[in-house]
Amino acid sequence: MSIKTAIVNGVQTIEIARPEKKNALTRAMYQEMADTLNAANEDNTVRAVLIQGQPAIFTSGNDIEDFMSSPPRDEDAPVFQFMRAMIGCDKPVIAAVNGAAIGIGTTMLLHCDFVYVADDARLAMPFVSLGLVPEFGSSLVVPRLMGQRRAAEKLLLGDPFTGEQAVEYGIANAVLPAGEVVNHARRVAERFNKLAPTAVRESKKLMRRGTEEALLEAIQVEAEIFGARLRSPEAIEAFQAFFQKRQPDFSKF
Ligand code: COA
Repeated sequence: MSIKTAIVNGVQTIEIARPEKKNALTRAMYQEMADTLNAANEDNTVRAVLIQGQPAIFTSGNDIEDFMSSPPRDEDAPVFQFMRAMIGCDKPVIAAVNGAAIGIGTTMLLHCDFVYVADDARLAMPFVSLGLVPEFGSSLVVPRLMGQRRAAEKLLLGDPFTGEQAVEYGIANAVLPAGEVVNHARRVAERFNKLAPTAVRESKKLMRRGTEEALLEAIQVEAEIFGARLRSPEAIEAFQAFFQKRQPDFSKF
C-alpha cells in the first residue's frame, strides 16, 4: 500500500509511503488520495486533513514510468480527480514536508491551507526540464505569489528552492527542525477540533471565492498542453534520460 490513511482525533491523515521510489506518485496513488479527500470532506468526524510523506522524502512527483506508459488521457484520470478533490476540499488541508517535494509535490502545496516544511526540505517544479509545462494551476498561482521574475527561475529554469525561501515566497507557513514537522502540522490540524466546523468551512470557501474560477480554468488549459507535451519527442527524451541516469539532450529539437 503506497498511500496510508487513518483518521485519528478528528484528523484524516494521508501518508505517501513509497520510499523505494522516492514517493513517486502513480495513478493508483492519486486515486487513493482523491477518494480519501472526497470521503473526508463528507465525514463529520473529520475536522482537518494532514498530508505527509516519509522522513527523508515528501514526494519526487509524478511517477515518470507512469507518464510514459499510462499518461492521463481525460479529465477522469486519477491525477485530475486528485486536483479537483484538493481544490474542492472545504476542510482545512495541512501539509508536512520533509525532504524533496518535486513537481506536483510542490504544486499540491499551493492548494493547502497550511504548509510546514523541514529545514532539509527542497522544493522544485522542473516541468520544463522534462519537456513539460507547469500544472495544477502553478502557471497562474506561482507568478502571483512570488512575482514574474522569481517565477521564471522556478518554472522556466526549474531552479530548486529551500524551505526558508518557500516561507519567503508565501508557499509555506514556517520552517521547523526535520523531526518536528509532522507533529507540529498535526497539532495545527487538531486545533480545528475546537473550532466551529461550519464556520471554518464557510470561511475557507469565502477565502477562495475570488480565485477559484480562474484557478480551475488555468488547470484545464494547462492540462490540455501538458497532455500533448507528454507525448512530445522532447518529453520522451527527458524521461528516457532520467531512467538512463544521464542529462537529456535537447540540441536536436
Ligand atoms: N518517477 C519514477 N521513479 C522515480 C521517480 C519518479 N518521479 N523519482 C525517483 N524514482 C526512482 C528512481 O528511478 C530510482 O529507482 P531505481 O532504484 O529502480 O533505480 C529510485 O526511485 C531512487 O531514486 P534516485 O534518483 O536513485 O534517488 P536520489 O536520492 O539520487 O534522487 C530525487 C532523489 C527525488 C532527487 C530524484 O529521484 C529525482 O530527481 N526524481 C525525479 C523528480 C522529477 O523529475 N519528478 C517529476 C516532476 S514533474
